[in-house]
Order: sequence, then structure tokens, then C-alpha cells
Amino acid sequence: MPNDSSNSLGNASLVAFNSLALPGRAKLYVRITSVNQLDAIIGKHARRFVLGGGSNLVLTENFDGLILHMAIPGRALVSEDAEAWYVRAGAGENWHDFVQWTLAQGWPGLENLSLIPGTVGAAPIQNVGAYGLEVGNCFHALSAVDMLTGRQECFDCATCRFGYRDSVFKQEGWHLTGRFVITNVTFRLPKQWRPLAHYGDIAGELAAQEIGNPDARQIADAVIAVRQRKLPDPARLPNAGSFFQNPVVDAQTANRLLARHPDLTHYPQADGRRVKLAAAWLIEQAGWKGRDLGPVGMYEKQALVLVNRGGATGGDVIALMHAVQHDVFEKFGVELMPEPVFLKND
Ligand code: EPU
Repeated sequence: MPNDSSNSLGNASLVAFNSLALPGRAKLYVRITSVNQLDAIIGKHARRFVLGGGSNLVLTENFDGLILHMAIPGRALVSEDAEAWYVRAGAGENWHDFVQWTLAQGWPGLENLSLIPGTVGAAPIQNVGAYGLEVGNCFHALSAVDMLTGRQECFDCATCRFGYRDSVFKQEGWHLTGRFVITNVTFRLPKQWRPLAHYGDIAGELAAQEIGNPDARQIADAVIAVRQRKLPDPARLPNAGSFFQNPVVDAQTANRLLARHPDLTHYPQADGRRVKLAAAWLIEQAGWKGRDLGPVGMYEKQALVLVNRGGATGGDVIALMHAVQHDVFEKFGVELMPEPVFLKND
């Protein structure tokens, strides 16, 4: 960690800043705690990468550029009307802590997204989601600095173009080039709260606890219990959450697969033409659940999570990714796409 007043460091180790605990260094590292700090960087440093919690990141080599580590703090109710609370948080706030704080204030709505790792600023980029809720559903607006012009821009729901694990930031490749730096995010939490507890795992957890009409806190606790049971704690077993996206295929492909594998977990999409397949099911059936390749493996309790059992490099992660992709394609003809961002020099 840098300890000088400028918050910057040369040849900085990034091992503590990525939840897969992969080794790697950055030519320059700056910890950003206020928007003003960005002014000095505008137009400089052609090679930039914006780092949040590092929980969706694969380091593949030493980075020959500038790492902007987002640590802008702050959370507040910015306005309120008859319908909703508008709550803002700095990009550097820890996502889970922020969600728990909104619940403690009596503003429900984000409870299904408890225990998702990472920061507030990173959440809209891949539209994080779990148990039937995505960030885009509770999103109002975000502020970002355009690193080419230095202007502050506001993105609303429409300009964010949210999709499944997707947004305009990914669609335009801005998350790789560091074009926009998100500084804060505002959420719209409707006062007419409705529980979202239909999702199998959560419904099961609430039923086991004999909770019929859950409040937001009880849903959050159910989510936390399920996630703690199924997903490894990065502090104990380094990982980056779901390593692959659930593939979305056309209905014809899905029907062909379902004829041969009737138990394949699948989710027909709203357009009626596409079907989302459970990547975890495909990986498990391809024999990779709980199986290692060198120091990395696919987690024994959730086949979608790639874990570092100790001492892995980005190369080990890529080797396992290719092996899993190969075997799933051989068996099912379906291509798996990784979910994390790969930090590379080109
Ligand atoms: N399944 C298996 N084997 C496994 C695990 C699951 O066959 O080892 C099958 C089961 O049939 C299960 C289905 O896959 O019903 C789906 O599994 P699960 O409900 O655990 O959800 P997921 O699709 O694997 C997604 C998100 C998670 C999110 C959960 C809960 C993606 C890529 N992942 O996982 O997000 O927490 O739903 O809603 O969409 C993350 O992005 O880091 C993440 C953890």
C-alpha cells in the first residue's frame, strides 16, 4: 500500500488488489479518494485501467500503465419523493456494506444483492445480479469523468444500456481502456417495496426457516446464508465469483440439447427466441466440478467458480479456462465466455 501523501506508487504489486490473488505489478498505481485527483491525470497515461474491488479481474501479466484504484467514499440520501428514496454512494464504497447500510436505514430494495463482492462503482459496469435482481433494476444515475475531455458526464438507465452482465461500458470497451471513471452511483429505491423471493435457493432457505412473509432484512439474511454455503470466501479461497457467463443460445439449439439432456437447467428468455443455459450444469456434466488443473480448479460446491488453491498465476487460470471451454464445447457444442475482465497490455 502506498503511504506517501500523493497516494501513488511505482512498480506496485497488485496481488492484494485482486480477489483471485494472482501476482502482477503495475508501472504506476494511484489511489483515488476524490474527484479532484482525476484532473491531474486527464489526457495523460495512454494505458490506464480503473480498478474497483478487483473481484472480477484476471491479471495475466505485469501492467505497463497506470492503475486508478477507486476509493472515493460517501453514502447519503440525496432526495426523496412520494414514490422513492434516492440514495447515492461513492464509487469506492464496498458494495455489501452499502447494501447493509441501506437496509439499516429502512430503505429496502437491494437486499437480493447482499454479499456480492466488489465496489459500488463497479456494480453497474457488468450490471451485477443475483436471485432475480440486477443493479439496473434499482438504478437511477451515475456520474463519470470522461478521461479524454475531463468533463463530468451523467449516465441514466437508458444511456447505461443494461443487459445480462452487460452495460454500455462493456459494449464500448470503455472498461478496458479506462475511458470513463465512475465516481458515484445513485439508486432509486421504491417505497412500495415488494419482496423478490421466488428464486429457488432463496425460497427454499426462507421455507426452511418457516418465514412466510419475509421482510427485506430476512431476505438479505437468506441470501447471505445461501451464498456463504455455496460460494467460497475469497479471503480463504481466492476466486472471482462466477467465472463464466450463463450462455444464451437460440431456441433451436436449446431444444436440440434438451432432447438429449432433459435435466439441463435452462431459462427461456422474454423474447421467446432465446434460452439461457446454466453454465454450472454444463461444467459439472463435463466433469469439471471439484476438479483441479495445477494450482487452480472449479469449486466443489459451485462448478461455475474458479478457485486459486495457492500460488497460481494468470497463465494457470487461462489454461483451466481453455480446458473447461474445450470440454464443454466437445460435449454440448456450446461456447462458454468468461465473465471477469483480463488485464493485458494491448
Ligand atoms: N448447477 C449445477 N452444478 C453446480 C451448480 C449449479 O448443475 O455446481 C445448476 C443447478 O441446476 C442450478 C443452476 O445450475 O439450478 C443455476 O445455479 P445457481 O442458481 O447457483 O446460479 P448460477 O447461474 O450458477 C448465477 C450468477 C451468480 C449469482 C447466482 C444466483 C451468473 C454467471 N452467475 O449463478 O452470480 O449469484 O446466479 O442468482 O449469472 C457472480 O456473478 O459472480 C455470481 C456469483
